[in-house]
Amino acid sequence: MVKNLTVFGAGLMGAGIAQVAAQNGFKVILSDVTEKALQNGLQIIQKSLGRVAKKKFAGKEGEMEGYTREVMGNITTMTDAGEAVSSADLIIEAIIESIKIKRDLFGFLDSKANQRCIFASNTSSLSIRDIAEACSTERQARFGGLHFFNPMKLVEVIKAQNTSQETFDTLVAVTKQMGKVPVSCKDTPGFIVNRLLIPYMLEAVRMAERGDASPHDIDTAMELGAGYPMGPFKLLDFVGLDTTTFISDGWREKAERGEIPKELVEKSALLQKLVDEGKLGRKSGQGFYDYS
Ligand code: CAA
Ligand code: NAD
Repeated sequence: MVKNLTVFGAGLMGAGIAQVAAQNGFKVILSDVTEKALQNGLQIIQKSLGRVAKKKFAGKEGEMEGYTREVMGNITTMTDAGEAVSSADLIIEAIIESIKIKRDLFGFLDSKANQRCIFASNTSSLSIRDIAEACSTERQARFGGLHFFNPMKLVEVIKAQNTSQETFDTLVAVTKQMGKVPVSCKDTPGFIVNRLLIPYMLEAVRMAERGDASPHDIDTAMELGAGYPMGPFKLLDFVGLDTTTFISDGWREKAERGEIPKELVEKSALLQKLVDEGKLGRKSGQGFYDYS
């Protein structure tokens, strides 16, 4: 049913989604606003694919090259958004986390894409319904959420208020075809993973702020006592302190409207201080830990 896939946003997530789709036989168009962003996306894919090929065909240079060529052959890049969706069966949006920019893009695509084309957003923290409202009523039935966790196997498939059962079933089938494991969730703040992870990470920071335990000891406790691959501070550095702050700031507005309990997203002065100092985690070389 879905053969042609268009991915918007050639950043970290968009490149990863385009890659797994291309690896699993979908014809993918990757679209971004500039040629430079597309080249950046292709570089991310080449590097990651090299790693996958090495694992798959250890030592067999010829097969590694053939596989990489075949997968890359399934990916085309394009800056013209209208042209990029002219024959799309499914659009997955992975652009910056801004409700306005996402709505502008989907509103535009609604008039350009085929009537049967399914729209999906990879948003981490926004409401699918709020984004989908930029489109016609008919399209809103063909609009859902696909929240990826590259390189992990999970995909949260979001059934928003107006998402039809047929659309939801197609999204589940597509994620399975990509070799991922889908779980189903309603259109609630943070879906499953982030709804549990963000309050947990914030409480870990508040625990350290209160002086109950050090970040290092909290990480060791959760790694060795709860079996998590990374403790909450390592995870915060991995996800990005700015990203976590951005999500929890947005949720505080939802808490004002009673959509999420206020105490789950109470602001942390320490987290804000680190963000203000540019200590964003691994990507900036320093967060709770030093990576320089
Ligand atoms: N491309 C493709 N696949 C990749 C890859 C890449 N660049 N990097 C890793 N993988 C795959 C590996 O092939 C492997 O898959 P298989 O088991 O099928 O072989 C798998 O990913 C694990 O890779 P590794 O074993 O090499 O890596 P690792 O043992 O160092 O684990 C990790 C890395 C998966 C990130 C691990 O440290 C982990 O699970 N950390 C916790 C991550 C986590 O909880 N993230 C939070 C998600 S929530 C979030 O991100 C918030 C948000 O939405 C804003
Ligand atoms: P990123 O900053 O790495 O990439 C975003 C890309 O979108 C950039 O290349 C940018 O040029 C492009 N872009 C911006 N506006 C555009 C437009 N109008 N049309 C086409 N392209 C446009 O971001 P990311 O980390 O890949 O995140 C993308 C989305 O995925 C966000 O909604 C984010 O919340 C979500 N997400 C992120 C993660 C994560 O761990 N980073 C995990 C799951 C979901």
